[in-house]
Amino acid sequence: MFPGVDSTVVQCTIESWRGLDHQVDVVMLFNVVGNVRPADRKVLYHKLMIDYLTDGGMVVTCVQSRPLQKLLKVPAFDNDDLLAEMSTEGFYIVLERDIHVYRDLSNPSEEIVRLFAMASGNSSEEVLSAIDLTFAQPDQRVVINKLTIFAK
Ligand SMILES: C[S@@+](CC[C@H](N)C(=O)[O-])C[C@H]1O[C@@H](n2cnc3c(N)ncnc32)[C@H](O)[C@@H]1O
Repeated sequence: MFPGVDSTVVQCTIESWRGLDHQVDVVMLFNVVGNVRPADRKVLYHKLMIDYLTDGGMVVTCVQSRPLQKLLKVPAFDNDDLLAEMSTEGFYIVLERDIHVYRDLSNPSEEIVRLFAMASGNSSEEVLSAIDLTFAQPDQRVVINKLTIFAK
């Protein structure tokens, strides 16, 4: 709990969210918008702009970089997509930061390989070779996630 901050927990999908009874100063969307269909994302940004946020309200986002998916040619939402979409809705960037995350899949379990194979439509061998390429060197195991604060 932060001093002076009231919290309310609501479980729902972005598509069905009707907002709160009163506007809020900050909305945090961490690793979520990439899962939402483009048309629904557009509706969300618009509702944030006109309805959910107070004047000067902010949206804090985090978008993961996905080197493995890129190599496997899985279409992936990235931070440039987010910046373009938010700018189209009229949000401007207040702050951008890189978050360095250690992610080592160089010795993957069978389940992980099967999961990536299913999600990407590639064979397990293709996933293993992409993992080899992506995480072969220790310095490749630090991936950069993007934190952005937008204001309206
Ligand atoms: C990669 S997880 C991120 C979880 C957490 N926010 C974090 O950063 O660790 C993606 C989350 O998005 C949620 N999600 C996916 N589609 C959603 C939607 N349409 N509306 C709301 N949440 C959604 C999933 O339930 C899941 O918890």
